[in-house]
Amino acid sequence: MRNEAPKNIWNLNLFKGKVCFITGGSGTICSKQAEELVKLGCSVSIIGRNEQKVLETVKRLTLLSGESTTIEEKIKVIGIPNIDVRDPSSLHKAVSTTVDKLGRIDFVIAGAAGNFISDFNHMSTNAFKSVVDIDLLGTFNTVKACYDQLVLNKGSVIFVSATLHYYGVPFQCHVGAAKAGVDALCRSLAVELGTVGIRVNAIAPGAIDGTEGFARLAVGDGKTGGKSPIERFTEKIPLQRLGSVMDIANATIFLFSDAASYITGTVMIVDGGFWHMGNFNSYPLYPDVLKNRLLEKKKPLKPKI
Ligand SMILES: NC(=O)c1ccc[n+]([C@@H]2O[C@H](COP(=O)([O-])OP(=O)(O)OC[C@H]3O[C@@H](n4cnc5c(N)ncnc54)[C@H](OP(=O)(O)O)[C@@H]3O)[C@@H](O)[C@H]2O)c1
Repeated sequence: MRNEAPKNIWNLNLFKGKVCFITGGSGTICSKQAEELVKLGCSVSIIGRNEQKVLETVKRLTLLSGESTTIEEKIKVIGIPNIDVRDPSSLHKAVSTTVDKLGRIDFVIAGAAGNFISDFNHMSTNAFKSVVDIDLLGTFNTVKACYDQLVLNKGSVIFVSATLHYYGVPFQCHVGAAKAGVDALCRSLAVELGTVGIRVNAIAPGAIDGTEGFARLAVGDGKTGGKSPIERFTEKIPLQRLGSVMDIANATIFLFSDAASYITGTVMIVDGGFWHMGNFNSYPLYPDVLKNRLLEKKKPLKPKI
């Protein structure tokens, strides 16, 4: 079994001439989505609030776009800071700037999200509302602002969702509620916008290594049975590794590519099978005992005559 996400499996000119508008594009997961799109010839517009983060991402991706010498067309990377997805008018301005500078928008990634850990008792109405406003309303606002371009170019949209709402994850009721709405929006928009040639899908990442979101949840006091909290967590993931930002980038490339031209309204879960575990939590039965049994050599069965 692979212990890391596959790299370099796509045709380098796959997205030549295409343009992607990415909210949250300077964040950990979405900047990797942007990076991998750039490597395949796609120009990108990085949208965020924090100017420094946006400019740093643009700088890094611009260097990368210059390195992609096998792609015949010039790839452009622009950044538009000080954009809050809760504010439709600022998003409209970002779309205009993108179209002015890059000529078009074919793909949209709605990845901007707010997150923090809080139990219900300590969560204010405003805190809950702000996550729903960024994750859900911000996703709606993003598609709305890009709509004309999506119609014109028969575009494709990816929402970045989560799996937290498939069961009741503690300290995450705000994100779970918001992402449940994101999934519902994905399905409704897929059905509506499919009629004018626009595909709408979502990616639901599981526990992604190297992100602040995962680091905040996977905490614990020291080692249990010689294993750290992260090792313990990883053992419960059927594919026995944490997700990587590359896993999410690969799903993104697939969903934007023509290979997915008949796929819309899907929430693609990229979590190593984790959510299927439900509440089964029985170490060492899973995974140690199970693994031993699965790999045990059995005597061949004698045919019954
Ligand atoms: N990390 C995980 O393991 C995990 C698991 C499941 C789902 N996800 C989802 O994956 C996506 C990316 O997560 P991540 O871990 O990469 O998070 P991240 O690094 O914190 O990135 C989130 C981005 O959203 C932007 N953002 C936040 N509020 C905004 C607003 N009001 N307007 C515009 N931009 C805003 C932030 O930029 P500014 O600071 O510049 O505003 C930031 O760059 C999110 O949708 C998250 O819910 C993550």
